[in-house]
Amino acid sequence: MFLVKENTVLNPNTVRMTVEAPMIARKAKPGQFVIIRGDEKGERIPLTISGYDAAGGTVTVIYQTVGASTLKLAEIPAGGYLCDIVGPLGRASELDGIKKAAVVGGGLGCAIAYPQAKYLHEHGASVDIIAGFRNKDIIILEDEMRAACENLVLLTDDGSNGHKGLVTDGLKALIDAGAKYDVVIVIGPPIMMKFVCRLTKEYGIKTVVSMNPIMIDGTGMCGGCRVSVGGEMKFACVDGPDFDGHLVDFDELMKRNRMYRDEEQHDCNLFREAKEREHNA
Ligand SMILES: Cc1cc2nc3c(=O)[nH]c(=O)nc-3n(C[C@H](O)[C@H](O)[C@H](O)COP(=O)(O)OP(=O)(O)OC[C@H]3O[C@@H](n4cnc5c(N)ncnc54)[C@H](O)[C@@H]3O)c2cc1C
Ligand code: FES
Repeated sequence: MFLVKENTVLNPNTVRMTVEAPMIARKAKPGQFVIIRGDEKGERIPLTISGYDAAGGTVTVIYQTVGASTLKLAEIPAGGYLCDIVGPLGRASELDGIKKAAVVGGGLGCAIAYPQAKYLHEHGASVDIIAGFRNKDIIILEDEMRAACENLVLLTDDGSNGHKGLVTDGLKALIDAGAKYDVVIVIGPPIMMKFVCRLTKEYGIKTVVSMNPIMIDGTGMCGGCRVSVGGEMKFACVDGPDFDGHLVDFDELMKRNRMYRDEEQHDCNLFREAKEREHNA
């Protein structure tokens, strides 16, 4: 059992959870993730390590409440316990030697990209962050991101905060204004990563993406997380989650991520019905 030190709502569907897990906190590096099981009947879900404190022995994740497992996770109070947390998993991002980077985050992807921007910034690289959100109500980590870069370009799809537009618009404007990036790191919904990669390919800029296929064990034993990269099959949990974005088959990723949609919806309905019964009792 692992002590949950905080489980704070950041916006209506985003929660930050800090867990006491000293062994993971000691070894964690940017780009790695954990697999969490809320209770003993729960499924294993992968969440990126968004922060770690080796001295304090804690690990932080930021998650969106999108289905039954994440909704249940959000119910654990500070002082409660998680059944399992396993990690750090996956290969750490390769960040050494980078002098100028654009870190592009879409929605919750900003929480996943933030540790990488922070690491690069702390190690002397020049970092631009391009962060996109649907609207102003779901902006997260604005102050943290601003402190982890030279230049934060905040965009909203509807223009309710920052510039109006998509992250591709923000990135293109910076490149066209003369920014010379060694690498673009992009994390967000697969469709957004696909379009950023299409743009950077035109400009010939190396681009790294973080893949988010369905995972089960997270240790390379099942292939549930397989993705096609440059025509080869890779296991995102052990070969990634970072990959060369220009080689990834995003359409296949999106198709595979939709495979259990009916079962996910069913589970989510059961959870909501149980909550309603509890409420009416
Ligand atoms: C390496 C890795 C790191 C991740 N890091 C984070 C993170 O830091 N924060 C976070 O909120 N989410 C992260 N995810 C996604 C997270 O694992 C899923 O949102 C979670 O498993 C959903 O579980 P659920 O039962 O609540 O929802 P479900 O009912 O299982 O799914 C609800 C919806 O979410 C989609 N979904 C399910 N699994 C995934 C998945 N693996 N990736 C993308 N969409 C999915 C489904 O297609 C469906 O539309 C990560 C995924 C991977 C593979
Ligand atoms: S999740 Fe099983 S091999 Fe990656």
